[in-house]
Amino acid sequence: MEIGAKDFARLTTFIKSKYGIDLINKQQLVECRLAFYVEQSGYKSFTEFLDAAFSDKTGMEIANIINKLTTNHTYFNRESDHFDHLVKELLPKIERESTTHQICIWSAGCSYGNEPYNVAMFIDEYFGFRKSAWDCKILATDISLNALDKAKRGVFSADSVKQLPAAWQQKYFTRLADGTFQVIPRIRKEVVFRYHNLMEPIAFKKTFDLILCRNVMIYFDEPTTEKLCQRFFDNMNHDAFLYIGHTEFINNPSFDKVRPAIYRKP
Ligand SMILES: C[S@@+](CC[C@H](N)C(=O)[O-])C[C@H]1O[C@@H](n2cnc3c(N)ncnc32)[C@H](O)[C@@H]1O
Repeated sequence: MEIGAKDFARLTTFIKSKYGIDLINKQQLVECRLAFYVEQSGYKSFTEFLDAAFSDKTGMEIANIINKLTTNHTYFNRESDHFDHLVKELLPKIERESTTHQICIWSAGCSYGNEPYNVAMFIDEYFGFRKSAWDCKILATDISLNALDKAKRGVFSADSVKQLPAAWQQKYFTRLADGTFQVIPRIRKEVVFRYHNLMEPIAFKKTFDLILCRNVMIYFDEPTTEKLCQRFFDNMNHDAFLYIGHTEFINNPSFDKVRPAIYRKP
């Protein structure tokens, strides 16, 4: 099944304005990811499917589209120099200077949860027995409900867990009967997963010591990225850090660039 120019335009315009994701040059990808679902659900054409999706008051069909069109590729220890910075610079600084013993971290665009669980494991390793004196909160958000469901379960394939050191595989996972690995409850409960669309205002109660928004803004255009970075800035503590993907770039003069892909709010 093919998507006509008009339907492609109305779908991509909607996705870009509501979610920031720019698919305008990706007609083949959109068709590939949706055609099977559209046919299987009994729609005779993309026009019929989109008419139904846009008039569906429950939002279920739009959620299905988002599940199909988001790129959720992620893995443990991705861009590991961020974790070096976390353990060698940010956590020691917080430990030296914090009077509240609270740490607030946000994984924005968390996909299947590898990133926030990885952060929780590094924090656990860093503090060791001192951790009980600290209140560490990791918020992890995404727009893909499928990805969030999987992330909440914290179950990963044997292959994906292999990206972590052997000692961590033992320490932070339980092997399930089907050969998959589940993050242990102690680490799972450090991470709170929520739906949040990064195009919308940030209304969390806390401000953050660290925001990771890695490999998300590559799908956004420059004005969308800049607006989002300003919202991040407004919701960060002084001396807090923003980690972005290594292929990404931001142009917000309010941030100090510490090194590639690491920015600091002065
Ligand atoms: C490629 S994954 C990156 C995952 C992880 N941050 C990493 O670097 O491995 C990008 C994620 O961003 C999410 N995303 C895209 N647009 C978003 C938006 N407007 N609001 C929230 N999440 C979004 C996608 O659903 C996807 O799970």
